[in-house]
Amino acid sequence: MGAAPLPDTVPATMAAMRLVGHGDVDQLVYDETVPTPRPGAGEVLVKVTATAKNNTDRKAREGLYPTKDQGDVTSFAMGGSPTLTFPRIQGADIVGRVVAVGDGVDASRLGERGLLDFNLYADARRDINLTPDYYGHGADGGFAEYVAVPSDQFHHVANPELADAELAAMGMCSYQTAYHMMTAANVTAGERVLVTGASGGVGTALIQLCRVVGAIPYALSQPDKADALLELGAEAVLDRSDMSDFEERVKAVTGGAPLDAVMDLVGGEMTDRFIDAMIFDMSVRSTYPRLSIAGASGGNVSEIMWTRIYLYQVQIFGVSHGTREEAEQLVEWIRGGQLKPVLHAAFRLSDLHAAERYFVHRGSHYLGKIVIVPDAEWDEHGAPFALEGTQ
Ligand SMILES: NC(=O)c1ccc[n+]([C@@H]2O[C@H](COP(=O)([O-])OP(=O)(O)OC[C@H]3O[C@@H](n4cnc5c(N)ncnc54)[C@H](OP(=O)(O)O)[C@@H]3O)[C@@H](O)[C@H]2O)c1
Repeated sequence: MGAAPLPDTVPATMAAMRLVGHGDVDQLVYDETVPTPRPGAGEVLVKVTATAKNNTDRKAREGLYPTKDQGDVTSFAMGGSPTLTFPRIQGADIVGRVVAVGDGVDASRLGERGLLDFNLYADARRDINLTPDYYGHGADGGFAEYVAVPSDQFHHVANPELADAELAAMGMCSYQTAYHMMTAANVTAGERVLVTGASGGVGTALIQLCRVVGAIPYALSQPDKADALLELGAEAVLDRSDMSDFEERVKAVTGGAPLDAVMDLVGGEMTDRFIDAMIFDMSVRSTYPRLSIAGASGGNVSEIMWTRIYLYQVQIFGVSHGTREEAEQLVEWIRGGQLKPVLHAAFRLSDLHAAERYFVHRGSHYLGKIVIVPDAEWDEHGAPFALEGTQ
């Protein structure tokens, strides 16, 4: 079965930002003559209205996914070979409307607003995902006017109270990763959980998700972000600028109890301090200390004594993305209003270079996500969330 023809309402070419190689932002080339994709069997064609930016866009562009300590300039491989080939349209967390359906997809889906589960799943299993590649890396993503994606991964979210840009800010790259960090470490109600990188996309998702499951999130961040993080649900905010007395500061906010688990996005030199804060009194613990790690914003290498790990039975979980089941649970929570968007600003698709620079050099008071909106959709979906002075 071939791809379905495009309806008359969809132009044959579209605007897209194509990544043409590894390197700086000049590798991102805006092109208004890219062929519009046609939906294959089981797919829907989505007219994109908003796509969230993620750290992974920059890392993949710069080739910052070394899997060996030599620091190869590369992106990760799936099934033994790299899936990032050029040109590639990046952008994982896609919101838009269904404008065409492929073979086998019910026409009733036309017009639906939805959010993409961004994974390129290797199989139909719902409870495990061992090859976490994604739209915007191993296949074209949402930094474009149109994208073709599997219909069962484009989840209908009607919720009129949520603008498209806000829904994109709750995209799965952050939320599903956050949730999988918690399920991997079996975080349960009542547990004290440290969230590092707390003001970022994954961190703000973790704080909310801890509250959804009844756990108590403690945020590690910077003082200027404390009020916003407390409002989002953090029990307390710890300053990351000086980690020398971290254990004492943890005791001060937990009433002397160790942390039950750490959801870490920072790594580097801080990892050992996080372990201290879980193991200082094993006699009052009722579960093993657990460290979930899904990012390394503070450094790719940590020095940890293995004796500390096995004597104190610290369980360490490496987390990359999550499962179909988890994506569906998150969509249910979004539909039910249990999660809220943390949207910092929207940028036009043609301004992606500026958005990338802003993202890398962001200053104080930055919280949550940046969203990219196709120029043709800007007035309706982007302008209300533009940075002051850039409408
Ligand atoms: N494994 C996966 O599947 C997956 C998926 C998504 C993201 N990630 C990774 O997870 C990490 C967080 O992603 P994100 O999208 O939330 O990123 P983000 O929005 O850029 O947030 C990262 C946060 O980490 C903190 N931070 C940055 N540099 C730091 C440093 N040198 N030392 C300590 N803290 C630092 C900052 O928070 P504060 O100012 O609040 O401290 C920053 O806001 C990234 O490394 C990303 O690549 C992995």
